[in-house]
Amino acid sequence: MTPDLMRAGAEARRHAEQRALALQTGSSGGRAASYSRIVTPGQLDIAHGAILYLDDITVSFDGFKALNALSMSISAGELRCIIGPNGAGKTTMMDVITGKTRPDAGRCFFGSTIDLLRMRENEIASVGVGRKFQKPTVFEHLSVFENLELALKADRGVRASLFFRLSGAQLDRIGEMLVLIHLKDHAQRTAGLLSHGQKQWLEIGMLLMQNPKLLLLDEPVAGMTDEETERTAELFLSLEGGHSLVVVEHDMKFIHALTHGNPAKKVTVLHEGSVLAEGSLAEVQADEKVVEVYLGR
Ligand SMILES: Nc1ncnc2c1ncn2[C@@H]1O[C@H](COP(=O)(O)OP(=O)(O)OP(=O)(O)O)[C@@H](O)[C@H]1O
Ligand SMILES: [Mg+2]
Repeated sequence: MTPDLMRAGAEARRHAEQRALALQTGSSGGRAASYSRIVTPGQLDIAHGAILYLDDITVSFDGFKALNALSMSISAGELRCIIGPNGAGKTTMMDVITGKTRPDAGRCFFGSTIDLLRMRENEIASVGVGRKFQKPTVFEHLSVFENLELALKADRGVRASLFFRLSGAQLDRIGEMLVLIHLKDHAQRTAGLLSHGQKQWLEIGMLLMQNPKLLLLDEPVAGMTDEETERTAELFLSLEGGHSLVVVEHDMKFIHALTHGNPAKKVTVLHEGSVLAEGSLAEVQADEKVVEVYLGR
C-alpha cells in the first residue's frame, strides 16, 4: 500500500470513530442523536425521560464480579429505592456512577449525553451528581451554619471563600435549608455536638446547597432513631420531583415510608451484582426469589 492510501485509510477510520462516538454520546456537532433538538455537549439532556442509565456494567475484584452485567434506568425526578443483601453490589454501583470505581465493561450515562465513564470524580460532582456516604462527614468543629456556608462556597476554592461575603439571596437559601433539614434551632451549634441523625441531615443539607440534580444516598438512616428516620423519609419525599434520588437502605420501614404503598413507585432488588427484581414494593415483597435471598432471612 502506498503512503497516500495508508493516510486516506487512517483518515477514514478516524472519521468513522468520531461518528460512532458522536452517535454514542449524542453530541454530533452539538446536535442530539434525534437531530431535532439542539444539545450543548456536556449539558444534561433528559428529554428521553431518564436521568441515569446503567447498561451492562461489570466490575470485577480479583475475578469476583461485584457487579455482573448490571442494567438500570432512573427517570428524571424519580425517587428509586434499592434494596438487597450485604455484598449485593449496591455501594459498588454508586462507586461506578460517581467515578470512584471504573467498570471492566458497560456504559453509564447521566441523561442521554453525558458519559460518566469518561469523567473524573470531581467532574461528575460538578455536572450535578451528589453522593452521601454512610458515615456523616461534616466539619465537626464548625457550626451548622458555617458548614452550610462552606458547602455553598465549595466551588470557589479556599482563598476566594475567605474574601467572599454572602449575598442576601444566599443567606435566605441557607435559612431555607436549615428549615428543610430540621436544624433551624441549631444553626449556631457546633456540628460535632449534633446527634448522629442531625449530622446526617446536615450532610444532606450540604449536598443540597450544591443543587445536585441526582442524589445518591447510601444507607442514610442507619443509626437513626425511629423519629429521625420518619423525618428523613418526609425530607426525601419533599425533594422528589425537583431532584432525582437513588436511595439504598436495609431499613424496610423506611423503604415503606418512601414508597407510601404507591404501586407506581419502583423498588429495585440487587443480588450478586445484578437486578434480581424490580417493581412496586408489594410486587418485590411477594417475589419468591426476593424472599429467598433477602426478605425472608
Ligand atoms: N475494593 C474492593 N476490593 C475487593 N472486593 C470488593 C471491593 N469493594 C467491594 N468488594 C466486594 O464486592 C461485593 C459488593 O460489595 P458492596 O459493598 O457493593 O455491597 P453492598 O450491596 O453495598 O453491601 P452492604 O449492604 O453490606 O453495604 C462484596 O462482596 C465486597 O466484598
Ligand atoms: Mg454498601
